[in-house]
Amino acid sequence: MTIRTFTLTDDSTGKSSSLEALHPTVGPDVLNIAPLAKDHGVFTYDPGFMSTAACESKITYIDGDKGILLYRGYPVEQLAAKSTFLEVAYLLIYGELPDTTQLTEWQNNITRHTMINESLLRFFNGFHYDAHPMAQVSAVVASLAGFYHDSLDIYNPRHREIVAHRILAKMPTIAAAAYKHMLGQPFIYPQNSLSYGANLLNMFFAVPSEELQIHPMAAKALDLLLILHADHEQNASTSTVRLAGSTGTNPYAAMSAGVAALWGPSHGGANEAVLQMLEEIGTADAIPKFLARVKDKQDHTKLMGFGHRVYKNFDPRAKIIRETCHAVLKTLGRSDNPLFELALRLEEVALNDEYFVSRKLYPNVDFYSGIIYSAIGIPRSMFTVMFAIARTAGWVAHWQEMIADPAMKIGRPRQLYTGPTSRVYTDIHTR
Ligand code: CMC
Repeated sequence: MTIRTFTLTDDSTGKSSSLEALHPTVGPDVLNIAPLAKDHGVFTYDPGFMSTAACESKITYIDGDKGILLYRGYPVEQLAAKSTFLEVAYLLIYGELPDTTQLTEWQNNITRHTMINESLLRFFNGFHYDAHPMAQVSAVVASLAGFYHDSLDIYNPRHREIVAHRILAKMPTIAAAAYKHMLGQPFIYPQNSLSYGANLLNMFFAVPSEELQIHPMAAKALDLLLILHADHEQNASTSTVRLAGSTGTNPYAAMSAGVAALWGPSHGGANEAVLQMLEEIGTADAIPKFLARVKDKQDHTKLMGFGHRVYKNFDPRAKIIRETCHAVLKTLGRSDNPLFELALRLEEVALNDEYFVSRKLYPNVDFYSGIIYSAIGIPRSMFTVMFAIARTAGWVAHWQEMIADPAMKIGRPRQLYTGPTSRVYTDIHTR
């Protein structure tokens, strides 16, 4: 392989450095700028990490121009068509698809950790009924750090594996507890005979007084959404988990930081915001007026579910979800869904509008996901929690990859300081 170098010369001193480009297995080269501070005493400045790779990773690859997403090398379309969420979680964490024995053992391990300590259940009572579920989930996930002291040596691979079992297994239980608390209904304990998705729906929708039949299409659609949200390389919440985890903090505390980062409307909160936006638009004839507001920079309105830092083409996940919407709505008898019709029309109008075309803004994963969540009964305030359950697989995989890397260092960005230089303290009477 050719060695590609870049020469950087400091014009004021004439001193040059040769910076080596690192070659990924696929994708653009990555310039190693680590020697810059040592050789020249300068840092690099890249707000929003527009051009900066923060780490090396073998987990997920995105080609934003071609609209390609690979988990451990497998196209997300193939995994969506053939896999289950738990299989995909195994793939992300261990790097290979499980064989039958491995999958059975993995499913058993997850299933056996689905209950949460009764003391944790009582934490929910501290929240008012209308507290946003993401506030409840991030607090309770952080609180997991106060339990499970038996397996918290982050440098022990077996302990890391148990952390993976516990967090993946308990996320749906915690989410359901938050939901039941909001409704004022009794908590429903996990059912180990059900699949991951069906168990989640059962904990959400069952009540002690009557039997609940989970529609197989609802469980299947949920599993698909979990697969599509499972990982997305160094997105804001995953980077947050890595940064927090790089201090050696308790893994549950690091995951809780990830939940908090995901909550924002520019990230995981977008799915909730999309439905709100569609309801506000109301009817197709109001689309032009709404898009005029989006284009007006003074208005600060975004077309939610559109645009992505990495994808400058169709988000492959959005394509799959849009197709699935048709099937799910039809099977669940909700074909006549005005919000889906409105979303389709809004997409069509935006994709033919110069503003969106010139900025390469396409529908992202969240443009249609809320329609499916609604169709299977998940309320809007729980959409981002669903995203968090799915992304836990990615957070765990990235946390494990980072901790297992012998070259791991605490994440510590530098800054371009533009504040005052050193000044002399003035006594309060003389200010
Ligand atoms: N509506 C209107 N204008 C937009 C949008 C949008 N959804 N997204 C980007 N733009 C404009 C932006 O104003 C800018 O215009 P200009 O060049 O005139 O200043 C240009 O497009 C480039 O955008 P940017 O803000 O520099 O892009 P970014 O990479 O910093 O932001 C984003 C990416 C996802 C935060 C942004 O596209 C956005 O806010 N989208 C809406 C929220 C959303 O759907 N988020 C979910 C992302 S996918 C799920 C996930 O991974 O979390």
